[in-house]
Parts: sequence; structure tokens; C-alpha cells
Amino acid sequence: MPMAYANSTEDFGEQALRDRQALASDPQRPVYHFVAPKNWMNDPNGLIQLNGEYHLFYQHNPQGAAWGNMTWGHASSRDLVHWKDLPFALRPDAPYDKDGVFSGCMVNDAGTATAVYTGTAPEVQCIATSKDMLTWQKPSVNPVIPGPPPGLQVTGFRDPFVWKDGAGWLAVIGSGIRDVGGAILLYRSKDLRTWEYLHPAFVGDKTKTGDMWECPNLFALGNKWVLMVSTNGQSYHFVGSFLDGKFSPESEAGTDQGGGLYAPLTFRDGKGRRIMFGWLWEQRGDAARYGWQGAQSLPRVITLGTDGRLRYEPAREVESLRGERTRLKDVSVTPGGLKPLNGVKGDALEIDAHIAPGEAQTVGLVVRRSPGGEEETRIVYDAKAGTLSVDRSQSSTDPNADKGARSAPLKLVNGEALNLRVFIDHSVLEVFANGRTCLTSRIYPSRPDSLGVGAFAEGGAANIRQLDAWTMKPIWPTAAPSAR
Ligand code: FRU
Repeated sequence: MPMAYANSTEDFGEQALRDRQALASDPQRPVYHFVAPKNWMNDPNGLIQLNGEYHLFYQHNPQGAAWGNMTWGHASSRDLVHWKDLPFALRPDAPYDKDGVFSGCMVNDAGTATAVYTGTAPEVQCIATSKDMLTWQKPSVNPVIPGPPPGLQVTGFRDPFVWKDGAGWLAVIGSGIRDVGGAILLYRSKDLRTWEYLHPAFVGDKTKTGDMWECPNLFALGNKWVLMVSTNGQSYHFVGSFLDGKFSPESEAGTDQGGGLYAPLTFRDGKGRRIMFGWLWEQRGDAARYGWQGAQSLPRVITLGTDGRLRYEPAREVESLRGERTRLKDVSVTPGGLKPLNGVKGDALEIDAHIAPGEAQTVGLVVRRSPGGEEETRIVYDAKAGTLSVDRSQSSTDPNADKGARSAPLKLVNGEALNLRVFIDHSVLEVFANGRTCLTSRIYPSRPDSLGVGAFAEGGAANIRQLDAWTMKPIWPTAAPSAR
């Protein structure tokens, strides 16, 4: 079927810019997170840095704003923050991937970029290569893994994650053993073309982490190994060891408990950083109406804390988006009402707040608040429960917007201050708390004046030691102010 899209880099770039301009007046569309020029986007794919350039591929439907026709969209960046739209990399045009080019990864095979991905249907593993990152070849050896291992009752077989191991390669493929739980199947290859099945490297418990694991990532971090998997809208990770092809977990946690981030993919960049992107899916019932769906998270750098748990920080490069700064110091927040933070306002903001909870039982920030409080989103630290929540019950007066509250464990120890780093980008809200808890949500305030920020404390007074807020510079064309 012919598809109406441009092939040359220049034409594609121009068309993408026009598409971005046409959608720029949508008040829910992020301006400093990666979004596709138009139409549907889900998982990040094929993340890699080559010759200094970062490449982000993504699950994309070039023909509509709902899931379908899965194709790898492509963008590149020098700084992980500003992106250039490039022509689609992989299209569903071979017999083994005609029902969709599903998720996968990218490796550097001695100078040849090699995508390892799932073709459907049925689910098989395939490769595609490129020397210039613009033209892609699907070699005739495809599919390189023609199906799941015989004899295993699997619930799925997709999303290969490949890494260099000595002179060869190892891969884990997302799967599950029927009636047992999600699983990662381990394969080995010398040349990325011929693969030998070894065994399940780890099998989960279906009552806890589902019966099918999508988008596995398995990588060394510090002196441990991390396994990340996604299942039923939630991503989990295990920290443990990987010996003789077997992963043994020592701890387990939700990767982002805001309910808005799924299918994260990580890669190691030239600076040795383990960087993660995740798909921020739409959470309003009528999302397809608006001509686009899905955003990518900000790039997150993952490290291992001294307690053996993961730490997350936005990549330093994100700071280049900071515009005008407002600084507040020593603000006392007392119970019984909202303390407006005058001068802090907007729908494209970063906030970095250091709060001493004092005697307060709950303390936090309110963002995207309308002057009368008809709309507001609350970020709440509960000292007694040891949790951080994002309360969206009043985020939007739009009945189509999801309103659920989500929370994650957060315990402050030994007089530690609460550090909230909050990224507001229209309908995207990413919260990093003390570098160890992330809550990413989608919110859809419908009023143009839902821009206010405030603070609250209940059960005792708290003190904002310092709060910096920056208006964030857009990376995409924005609507003329008169149109907003
Ligand atoms: C995760 C996922 C993957 C699959 C892709 C298809 O969101 O379901 O398992 O490869 O999306 O678009």
C-alpha cells in the first residue's frame, strides 16, 4: 500500500515542521518533550549514540492517531533535548513484518548500526542495518529468530534487547510462560544473524508481575545487574546479579509509579551514562480526536544508590531548556489553606523545591491551578504513610480525562529535606522526588488560566528552604500567543 510521506531528509523535515505547526495550538501538546510530528506514538525504540549523535526511534502509526501500521519513526539529537525529524526508518513492508515493525533495540556492529526488532505476525525477531542511519536494509536472513523455542508454552515473544558479550552478543526477548509468569528468554549469537536459544534467564510470578513481560532491558549498573520489564501498563525493575546466564533478583520496585510511563528503554551513551526514555501515554478517553497521541519522557540518567536501589535524575542537558528563573527562599507554609507562590506560574515549567516538612503530616505543591481552584493537581508527601502521591482528582474539568491518584513509597530519613523536581509541560507532569521516586502522569487542565503554583502543609507547619522555578524553552514551534 503506498504511503503518503516524504522520503528525502529535507522534504521529511519540512513536512514534519508543517505538521508540528498545525498541532501547535493544542493546549495539551507538550512543547519541550519529544512528540511525533503528528499521529500515534508509543514505545521508544533503538536508542543509541553513534558518532556523537543520539538517535531515538519510536513506535509510530504514520497514518493515524490510533495504534496501528507500526513503523519506526526516527529523530536525532546532539544534546538529547533538541530533536531533528528524520524519515521513517523501518516500515512494515517485508513478509515477516507486514503486520507491524514492533519494538526493539539498536547496536553498533563494528560501524554498522543494526536494529534488532520484532516483526509481526506471528512474532519473529528480525534485523535491519544501516551505514548512514538514513537508508535501511533488511537482509535476506530474516527472520533471524523465526519463533519461540519449541516446547515452551509462551504468552508472547517480542521486544529483543541485545548487548555485546565478549566477542559475541547476548539477547533477552520479552515473553512469559503460560500460567507461571512473565519471562525473559536468553539467546546468544556471534554475528547477530544466527541465534542460539539458551534458556529463560528469569521467570516472574504472574500473580505479582503479570504473565507477559514486554520491553525487557538487562544491563550492568555499578556492581549489580538491573532487569526492567513492562507489563499491563506498569514497569518494574529488579536489581540483582546475572551469572551463567541466570538473573537472580535481590530487590524489586516499580520504575515509575505515576501510572503514565510505560515500556522504558535504556542505553549507554558515550559518557558511560545509562539513559532511559519511556512512553508517556495519553490518559483521556477521546485522545485520538486530537490528531496525535503519546510523548516521550525526558531523558533520565539511572544510577545505583549505595542502598542498592535505583536513582533517577533528568539528564543535565535538560537544564539548557531553562529560561527565566524565579527564586523563593525561606517560605513558611502553615496549615489551613493554600499558599500561592506568587511569580511562579505556567504550563511549561521546571520547579526544584527543597522543603523541610517540619511537623507537617502532609506537605506538597499544587500545580496547574486555576485562580478559583476549579482545576488543580496536587503533589503530596505524606510523612506518616511514607508516600508521595499525585492527586489528579481535580486536575481537569474535562470528563474524558483520567482522574485517578497514584502514589509511591518515599521515606525521608534523618531530617532529610523533601526535594521535588517537577516538570510541567502542558499535559505532561514528571515528578522526581529525592532522586529515588518518580511519578509521571498525564493531566489535561481545560482552562487557559490553570497556570498557578502553590504550596500546602497540613497537621503542622513546613518550610520551603528554597524553590527555583524556570519557564522552559520550547523545542517545537508554538502557537502565536494570540491563538492561545
Ligand atoms: C509495548 C508494546 C510492545 C510491542 C509494541 C507494539 O507498549 O506492546 O510489546 O512491541 O508495544 O507497538
